[in-house]
Amino acid sequence: MFPKSWIAATQAIEFQSEISAPANIAWVKYWGKKGHQLPANPSLSLTLKESVTHTKLMATPADHLKVELIFEGNTSDAFGKKIENYLAALAKDLPLLGRYHYKIESRNTFPHSSGIASSASSQAALAMLLGRLLSKAAGSELDMKAVGSLARLGSGSACRSLMGGFVSWGETEKLMGASDLFATEVHDVHANFKQTRDCILIVSSKEKEVSSRQGHSHMKAHPYAVARTEQANLHYSETLSALKSGDWQKAGDIMEADALALHALMMTGSPGFILLEPGSLEIIRLVRLFREASKVPVYFTIDAGPNIHLIYPEEAHVKVEAFVRHELLRLTEKGTGVIWDRLGSGPV
Ligand code: PMV
Repeated sequence: MFPKSWIAATQAIEFQSEISAPANIAWVKYWGKKGHQLPANPSLSLTLKESVTHTKLMATPADHLKVELIFEGNTSDAFGKKIENYLAALAKDLPLLGRYHYKIESRNTFPHSSGIASSASSQAALAMLLGRLLSKAAGSELDMKAVGSLARLGSGSACRSLMGGFVSWGETEKLMGASDLFATEVHDVHANFKQTRDCILIVSSKEKEVSSRQGHSHMKAHPYAVARTEQANLHYSETLSALKSGDWQKAGDIMEADALALHALMMTGSPGFILLEPGSLEIIRLVRLFREASKVPVYFTIDAGPNIHLIYPEEAHVKVEAFVRHELLRLTEKGTGVIWDRLGSGPV
């Protein structure tokens, strides 16, 4: 999983680097784990452009591991402790990581508590910086597959934020080079999808009552676990072929079915939970009515929360923007909960 040169590196060196890494939104969701932080099914996502985490890492050689985290200008002991635990676990395989005092400054471009999961973008940024540190100390090239593993071990979906466009993670015969350990870029994408937009409607920015870690673990004994794996594999291969042929309707129909399946799985687990709000359901209903009446190819997807992502091609933007302003904004938080995002090209 990690290069020998990283495992063997012993000489801690003074190191400083910074990077911006984007969030991503899955069209086919990763839900449920196997083994150590490996996905129960292949997933496929769109990398975003505007919703990013910017992180600066300053690492000073020390006799034991210590993390100081400054999030959006304020010291955060809770996040700092989480990162310290993550690094301590990594240090079992990569001992060099245990020999530093890390000062990490991190901020998101999307508003704090906007209801967008920042774990993918922040873990991707941190993994890139740790990969750079290890490569520099080991005198080796940056190994992006190993960086993928660093990201995945922090948050599974974070490995998909390390590259741009459409990204796949999880073993499947449908894509060359696909792996459970790291993500792979999907290159065979029709021009119809090259300028995809994502309008994120924030229905509620309240902290989730169920973490994705808990959600994944509920899949272990879920009565529909086997059916979900089959469905996700089918959704995955159909989405790949829709991306290739440029078929928005097919990609969109699957995207909606997969998002609703994710929420159905949450509702029917034990314990079951409902993360959608009345406003989420009303947005879904209005989007379907609008699509039917206008023939504008706008589809929704949803992460593990109440917020709704509207996915559509660039050509539809003027019509979608008017629809959002006239009919949907009133259903968002304070009537202003919207982020206009689009397909991005990965960390910079
Ligand atoms: O990466 P995690 O462990 O936070 O899980 C993410 C799960 C979903 O966001 C619901 C789906 C996905 O594939 O991104």
